Amino acid sequence: MAGIDRLLNIALPKGRLGEKVYSRFAAAGYPCPALMENSRKLIFENSDAGVRYFWVKPADAAIYVERGTADIGVAGKDILLEQGPEIYELLDLNTGICRMAVAAPKGFRDDTRRPLRVATKFPHIAERYYASLGREIDIIHLNGSIEIAPILGLSDVIVDIVETGTTLRENDLEVVEDIFPISARLIANKASFKFKTSEIEKLVSKLSEEA
Ligand code: PRP
Repeated sequence: MAGIDRLLNIALPKGRLGEKVYSRFAAAGYPCPALMENSRKLIFENSDAGVRYFWVKPADAAIYVERGTADIGVAGKDILLEQGPEIYELLDLNTGICRMAVAAPKGFRDDTRRPLRVATKFPHIAERYYASLGREIDIIHLNGSIEIAPILGLSDVIVDIVETGTTLRENDLEVVEDIFPISARLIANKASFKFKTSEIEKLVSKLSEEA
Protein backbone atom coordinates (compact mmCIF):
# COMPACT_ATOMS: atom_id res chain seq x y z
CA MET A 1 0.00 0.00 0.00
CA ALA A 2 1.36 3.42 -0.94
CA GLY A 3 2.46 5.65 1.89
CA ILE A 4 3.19 2.89 4.38
CA ASP A 5 6.42 3.47 6.26
CA ARG A 6 8.43 0.31 5.62
CA LEU A 7 11.26 1.42 7.87
CA LEU A 8 11.33 -0.21 11.27
CA ASN A 9 10.96 2.50 13.91
CA ILE A 10 13.00 1.50 16.93
CA ALA A 11 12.93 3.13 20.40
CA LEU A 12 16.28 2.70 22.13
CA PRO A 13 16.89 3.62 25.79
CA LYS A 14 19.35 6.51 26.07
CA GLY A 15 22.51 5.73 27.99
CA ARG A 16 24.91 2.85 28.46
CA LEU A 17 22.33 0.10 27.99
CA GLY A 18 21.06 1.67 24.76
CA GLU A 19 24.57 1.96 23.36
CA LYS A 20 25.26 -1.68 24.16
CA VAL A 21 21.98 -2.73 22.60
CA TYR A 22 22.59 -0.58 19.51
CA SER A 23 25.91 -2.34 18.87
CA ARG A 24 23.96 -5.63 18.85
CA PHE A 25 21.53 -4.19 16.28
CA ALA A 26 24.44 -2.89 14.19
CA ALA A 27 26.20 -6.27 14.29
CA ALA A 28 22.93 -7.94 13.30
CA GLY A 29 22.81 -5.89 10.08
CA TYR A 30 20.95 -2.73 11.22
CA PRO A 31 23.71 -0.13 11.52
CA CYS A 32 23.19 3.61 11.72
CA PRO A 33 26.64 5.03 12.55
CA ALA A 34 25.39 8.60 13.04
CA LEU A 35 23.60 7.34 16.16
CA MET A 36 26.84 7.10 18.11
CA GLU A 37 28.06 10.56 17.16
CA ASN A 38 28.14 12.86 20.10
CA SER A 39 25.24 15.10 19.25
CA ARG A 40 21.95 16.11 20.81
CA LYS A 41 20.02 14.67 17.90
CA LEU A 42 17.43 12.11 18.91
CA ILE A 43 16.20 10.61 15.61
CA PHE A 44 18.43 8.77 13.14
CA GLU A 45 17.61 6.97 9.95
CA ASN A 46 19.38 4.51 7.68
CA SER A 47 16.96 3.72 4.88
CA ASP A 48 19.42 1.27 3.28
CA ALA A 49 19.28 -0.84 6.44
CA GLY A 50 15.53 -0.20 6.79
CA VAL A 51 15.69 1.39 10.23
CA ARG A 52 14.88 4.63 12.02
CA TYR A 53 16.13 4.83 15.61
CA PHE A 54 14.92 7.15 18.41
CA TRP A 55 16.81 7.76 21.64
CA VAL A 56 14.24 7.90 24.45
CA LYS A 57 14.35 7.92 28.25
CA PRO A 58 14.62 4.26 29.34
CA ALA A 59 11.37 4.51 31.31
CA ASP A 60 9.54 5.83 28.21
CA ALA A 61 10.54 3.21 25.61
CA ALA A 62 7.51 1.02 26.25
CA ILE A 63 5.16 4.00 25.90
CA TYR A 64 6.45 4.74 22.37
CA VAL A 65 6.03 1.09 21.47
CA GLU A 66 2.60 0.65 23.04
CA ARG A 67 1.28 3.68 21.14
CA GLY A 68 2.87 2.61 17.86
CA THR A 69 5.21 5.59 17.49
CA ALA A 70 7.91 2.94 17.53
CA ASP A 71 7.32 -0.50 15.99
CA ILE A 72 9.81 -2.07 18.32
CA GLY A 73 11.96 -1.03 21.23
CA VAL A 74 14.06 -2.10 24.13
CA ALA A 75 12.90 -1.90 27.74
CA GLY A 76 13.99 -3.41 31.04
CA LYS A 77 11.76 -6.07 32.58
CA ASP A 78 11.42 -3.71 35.57
CA ILE A 79 9.73 -1.08 33.38
CA LEU A 80 7.48 -3.69 31.75
CA LEU A 81 6.34 -5.05 35.12
CA GLU A 82 5.81 -1.56 36.53
CA GLN A 83 3.94 -0.09 33.56
CA GLY A 84 2.23 -3.23 32.23
CA PRO A 85 2.10 -1.95 28.64
CA GLU A 86 0.03 -3.74 25.97
CA ILE A 87 2.96 -4.90 23.84
CA TYR A 88 4.56 -8.15 22.71
CA GLU A 89 7.73 -9.19 24.45
CA LEU A 90 9.80 -10.83 21.70
CA LEU A 91 13.24 -11.57 23.05
CA ASP A 92 15.32 -11.54 26.21
CA LEU A 93 18.44 -9.64 25.15
CA ASN A 94 20.37 -11.00 28.14
CA THR A 95 21.94 -7.66 28.84
CA GLY A 96 21.24 -4.91 31.37
CA ILE A 97 21.12 -7.67 33.95
CA CYS A 98 20.23 -6.70 37.51
CA ARG A 99 17.48 -7.49 40.03
CA MET A 100 14.59 -5.91 41.88
CA ALA A 101 15.06 -6.21 45.62
CA VAL A 102 13.92 -5.00 49.00
CA ALA A 103 16.77 -3.36 50.90
CA ALA A 104 17.03 -1.84 54.35
CA PRO A 105 19.58 -0.52 56.84
CA LYS A 106 21.72 -3.31 58.30
CA GLY A 107 19.97 -5.08 61.18
CA PHE A 108 16.49 -3.95 60.11
CA ARG A 109 13.57 -5.79 61.78
CA ASP A 110 10.05 -5.36 60.46
CA ASP A 111 7.57 -4.06 63.04
CA THR A 112 4.40 -5.78 61.82
CA ARG A 113 2.15 -3.75 64.18
CA ARG A 114 2.26 -0.82 61.75
CA PRO A 115 2.33 -0.38 57.95
CA LEU A 116 5.78 -0.74 56.43
CA ARG A 117 7.00 2.50 54.82
CA VAL A 118 8.41 1.62 51.39
CA ALA A 119 10.31 4.15 49.25
CA THR A 120 10.49 3.29 45.57
CA LYS A 121 10.45 4.37 41.93
CA PHE A 122 8.30 1.27 41.28
CA PRO A 123 5.03 1.69 43.24
CA HIS A 124 3.06 -0.97 41.32
CA ILE A 125 5.77 -3.57 41.71
CA ALA A 126 6.09 -2.79 45.42
CA GLU A 127 2.32 -2.86 45.94
CA ARG A 128 1.94 -6.20 44.18
CA TYR A 129 4.86 -7.72 46.03
CA TYR A 130 3.63 -6.75 49.50
CA ALA A 131 0.01 -7.61 48.62
CA SER A 132 1.24 -11.12 47.80
CA LEU A 133 2.72 -11.26 51.30
CA GLY A 134 -0.41 -9.78 52.87
CA ARG A 135 1.72 -7.00 54.37
CA GLU A 136 0.19 -3.54 54.70
CA ILE A 137 2.45 -0.78 53.36
CA ASP A 138 2.69 2.96 52.95
CA ILE A 139 4.24 3.74 49.55
CA ILE A 140 6.57 6.71 49.26
CA HIS A 141 6.96 7.31 45.54
CA LEU A 142 10.36 8.87 44.77
CA ASN A 143 12.13 9.56 41.48
CA GLY A 144 15.73 8.64 42.31
CA SER A 145 18.43 8.43 44.99
CA ILE A 146 16.08 6.00 46.70
CA GLU A 147 18.83 4.72 49.00
CA ILE A 148 18.83 7.85 51.14
CA ALA A 149 15.17 7.45 52.16
CA PRO A 150 15.72 4.89 54.95
CA ILE A 151 18.93 6.58 56.05
CA LEU A 152 17.08 9.84 56.61
CA GLY A 153 14.10 8.09 58.22
CA LEU A 154 11.70 8.81 55.35
CA SER A 155 11.06 5.08 54.89
CA ASP A 156 11.73 1.74 56.58
CA VAL A 157 12.83 -0.07 53.42
CA ILE A 158 13.31 0.52 49.71
CA VAL A 159 12.23 -1.49 46.67
CA ASP A 160 14.83 -0.77 44.03
CA ILE A 161 17.19 -2.08 41.39
CA VAL A 162 20.42 -3.66 42.53
CA GLU A 163 23.10 -4.16 39.93
CA THR A 164 26.59 -4.32 41.44
CA GLY A 165 25.38 -3.66 45.00
CA THR A 166 27.78 -0.71 45.31
CA THR A 167 25.10 1.90 46.06
CA LEU A 168 23.66 -0.25 48.86
CA ARG A 169 27.09 -0.97 50.34
CA GLU A 170 28.20 2.64 50.27
CA ASN A 171 25.03 3.65 52.09
CA ASP A 172 25.12 0.88 54.73
CA LEU A 173 22.08 -0.88 53.34
CA GLU A 174 21.65 -4.56 52.55
CA VAL A 175 19.30 -6.71 50.51
CA VAL A 176 16.48 -8.15 52.64
CA GLU A 177 14.72 -10.02 49.84
CA ASP A 178 15.13 -10.51 46.08
CA ILE A 179 11.90 -9.89 44.18
CA PHE A 180 12.76 -10.83 40.56
CA PRO A 181 15.65 -10.82 38.08
CA ILE A 182 15.77 -8.11 35.39
CA SER A 183 17.17 -7.95 31.87
CA ALA A 184 16.53 -5.89 28.73
CA ARG A 185 13.74 -7.15 26.47
CA LEU A 186 12.98 -6.55 22.80
CA ILE A 187 9.35 -5.46 22.59
CA ALA A 188 6.96 -4.83 19.68
CA ASN A 189 3.81 -2.85 19.04
CA LYS A 190 0.94 -5.29 18.48
CA ALA A 191 -0.32 -3.74 15.21
CA SER A 192 3.23 -3.30 13.84
CA PHE A 193 3.88 -6.95 14.51
CA LYS A 194 0.92 -7.79 12.31
CA PHE A 195 1.79 -5.39 9.48
CA LYS A 196 5.59 -5.67 9.53
CA THR A 197 5.77 -9.34 10.53
CA SER A 198 8.51 -10.36 8.11
CA GLU A 199 10.75 -7.35 8.92
CA ILE A 200 10.33 -7.86 12.66
CA GLU A 201 10.81 -11.62 12.53
CA LYS A 202 13.97 -11.19 10.46
CA LEU A 203 15.34 -8.73 13.01
CA VAL A 204 14.48 -11.06 15.91
CA SER A 205 16.20 -13.99 14.24
CA LYS A 206 19.32 -11.91 13.41
CA LEU A 207 19.48 -10.60 16.98
CA SER A 208 19.06 -14.12 18.37
CA GLU A 209 22.02 -15.31 16.25
CA GLU A 210 24.09 -12.49 17.75
CA ALA A 211 23.10 -13.35 21.33
C1 PRP B 1 20.01 2.64 40.01
C2 PRP B 1 19.25 2.04 41.19
C3 PRP B 1 20.29 2.03 42.27
C4 PRP B 1 21.58 1.78 41.50
C5 PRP B 1 21.97 0.33 41.62
O1 PRP B 1 20.02 3.99 40.16
O2 PRP B 1 18.10 2.82 41.51
O3 PRP B 1 20.35 3.26 42.93
O4 PRP B 1 21.32 2.09 40.13
O5 PRP B 1 23.20 0.07 41.00
P1 PRP B 1 24.39 -0.62 41.81
O6 PRP B 1 23.85 -1.83 42.53
O7 PRP B 1 25.37 -1.03 40.72
O8 PRP B 1 24.99 0.37 42.74
P2 PRP B 1 20.28 5.00 38.98
O9 PRP B 1 21.72 4.98 38.61
O10 PRP B 1 19.31 4.76 37.89
O11 PRP B 1 20.01 6.41 39.68
P3 PRP B 1 18.74 7.01 40.43
O12 PRP B 1 17.70 5.94 40.67
O13 PRP B 1 19.28 7.53 41.71
O14 PRP B 1 18.26 8.08 39.51
